[in-house]
Amino acid sequence: MKINNLKESFQKKYGTYSEHIYFSPGRVNLIGEHTDYNGGVVFPCALSFGTYCLIRKTNNPFFRFASLNQEQEYQIPLDELSIPLPKGNWTNYTIGVIAQFLKAGSKINTGADLLFWGDVPSGAGLSSSASLEMATAVAINDIFQLGQNQLELVKFSQKAEHEFAGVKCGIMDQFASGMGQKNHAIYLDCDRLDYEHVPIEMHDHKIIIANTNSPHSLDAGMYNQRVAECEKAVQELSAAKEIRNLGEISLAQFDLLIKNISENTILKRARHVVKEIDRTMHAVKVLKEGNLDAFGKLMNESHDSLRDDYEVTGMHLDTMVEAARKVRGTIGARMTGGGFGGSTVNLVKQEFVDQFIEDVGQEYLDKTGIKAQFYVAEIGDGGRRLE
Ligand code: GLA
Repeated sequence: MKINNLKESFQKKYGTYSEHIYFSPGRVNLIGEHTDYNGGVVFPCALSFGTYCLIRKTNNPFFRFASLNQEQEYQIPLDELSIPLPKGNWTNYTIGVIAQFLKAGSKINTGADLLFWGDVPSGAGLSSSASLEMATAVAINDIFQLGQNQLELVKFSQKAEHEFAGVKCGIMDQFASGMGQKNHAIYLDCDRLDYEHVPIEMHDHKIIIANTNSPHSLDAGMYNQRVAECEKAVQELSAAKEIRNLGEISLAQFDLLIKNISENTILKRARHVVKEIDRTMHAVKVLKEGNLDAFGKLMNESHDSLRDDYEVTGMHLDTMVEAARKVRGTIGARMTGGGFGGSTVNLVKQEFVDQFIEDVGQEYLDKTGIKAQFYVAEIGDGGRRLE
């Protein structure tokens, strides 16, 4: 959709043109999965597709929200902007963000009309919800001149997800959407929020995203269960060594402490997290050295650990990864995002990209009956005003 079409849609819906247009991207995580809420490191990048927000302040005592991706529209009085709607209402992601501004003491005394449109497929594990939250955050902050910095907006967006969507997510998705930089991945320490933009020089390789079209229910239930299992591991390990999160222990320490964990499931979850953090640090190092083959191998190990120890892959993601690994020219294939469906991320030699899409698409279709979608990832900038 072209920006001009979005402007026309706004005009048609609200009878006047928008003042500004904002954009915030989806993300793909290259490695470092289910480590963010454990205080570990992650390595995501912002995509070139995301959510657009057109907005105009009004003199109305209410906000209006519409989306070209959704049928349901909302008119919400100013004094009800902090109240979550029943589960399943898409605008919970937007009012969830506005509620954080209000909690932080900002005054919003006039209404606004908002229109959204996004091209991140929902349920694909590419953070359509984080991009919607961040697009709202940058728009509201700018148009009402609320003076929050970008990192604060990232935190507001994460809180919206916790409080209005019920998902106890880490900070990776919102951070990538807010702080992304073109042609760079973000090496982020989710405990200290230190980060570095690392240039992604893929030489003759491409990052291919394969959407299983088996919607991941970022089923708060399964996700929050993993969060709780990690908390249990921290609790049990703390009997031997006081820790705040799993990110505080090294692989070597983990081997010594392992006997303190009572259940096999908890042990597997913790083992994934500790090893994945180690893998991610290593992956960034080899990438900086230009060793893509080593990076790809670590991607493969990441997937296998998410499948066997963390148990968040499932038939669709595993089938897609297995098919990908059969293609000559694939040097790494893994699930990306929360899991339980969604997408895989693959590192593929440029000359094999077409073959990859054809062979993997066919094998996936044969085995699951579902047509997959493929995108050659373009790494874009984080949330901002476009005009
Ligand atoms: C989802 C969450 C993130 C992160 C990933 C798994 O995308 O929103 O915070 O935990 O899953 O790495």
